[in-house]
Amino acid sequence: MVVGSDAVQPRSTIYSMTFPEMRMRRLRRSDSLRALVRETNVEPGDLIYPLFLCPGEGVRKEVGSMPGVFNLSIDEAVREAEEAASLGIAGLLLFGLPEAKDEQGTGAWDENGIVQQGLHALRQSAASKKLVLIADVCLCEYTSHGHCGVIIEGRDGFEVDNDPSLDLLARTAVSQAKAGADIVAPSDMMDGRVAAIRTALDKAGCAQTPILSYASKFASAFYGPFREAADSAPQFGDRKTYQMDGANLREAMREIDLDLAEGADMILMKPAMPYLDVIRAARERVDVPIGAYQVSGEYSMMQAAFAKGWLDRDRAILESLLGIRRAGADFAVTYFAKEAAKLLG
Ligand code: PBG
Repeated sequence: MVVGSDAVQPRSTIYSMTFPEMRMRRLRRSDSLRALVRETNVEPGDLIYPLFLCPGEGVRKEVGSMPGVFNLSIDEAVREAEEAASLGIAGLLLFGLPEAKDEQGTGAWDENGIVQQGLHALRQSAASKKLVLIADVCLCEYTSHGHCGVIIEGRDGFEVDNDPSLDLLARTAVSQAKAGADIVAPSDMMDGRVAAIRTALDKAGCAQTPILSYASKFASAFYGPFREAADSAPQFGDRKTYQMDGANLREAMREIDLDLAEGADMILMKPAMPYLDVIRAARERVDVPIGAYQVSGEYSMMQAAFAKGWLDRDRAILESLLGIRRAGADFAVTYFAKEAAKLLG
């Protein structure tokens, strides 16, 4: 079903009938009537499931702040992928917890890095025929300082240095594409990274690999639980010099325009629930496919409410995803992907 820019227009002047001749409740009387007039839907094929890969074998370690989310060794991730594929989920978004971290984040572009190994294994599994494998491109899981780029001494102490980070991100994307990623998704928010990645991919013979850029990524409190899951909390400072200020809608549009000008094939909006207006604005502005990321904090707060018995679990999950679709996103990245797909199936 189309979630289009013409979804809401002021057309009320052409209808002359009002109550009691007109009754809105007529079309809400039964399940089948409601289904007939439903404007937006969510399907398993609209969902992307994030996985956190870690070293070892048979590892399935639950993340404390994210019940139902695990650090998975590659063998376990393959099993998870097979289940996701059988549920009709569209794809996976892969993050990695490396064996060791360093200043530069060399684990990110290591040919034998955790995500690269995971991609090789997933490629060999039957699941990969049905799933789109998306690799998150960032350095924060691999750097000892936990920032998304190279650190230098700046005027006011440390700074994340933009330009030297680009080469490292581009190398990361190329190594992931070569290892079997269908799509690379840069989430670092360095300026110019989409162009740097596109150029590097093309040079490396990966001209067919699309870029899904996290074009509109806000510095958000809602990433908190993820940083436990990916062990990627910044060791000092915060991410406000590279991720966007939550107050700025117009700036988000400029980020999107620039990423598309640099060659992004699709864009990802993040977080979702506190920024549904930004998703809607993006939908009305551009015609590329748009994804939205229901981030860790959105997931965890809902889980907390479910644990308390304060929200109806099944309905709240589907309603949260419907809201993302109605705002204009074509697909949603969500930790609820498996559960939602089961509910929808
Ligand atoms: C890495 C990255 C983050 C998330 C996705 N990619 C964390 C961050 O920016 O700190 C957050 C995802 C989530 O919260 O679920 N840069």
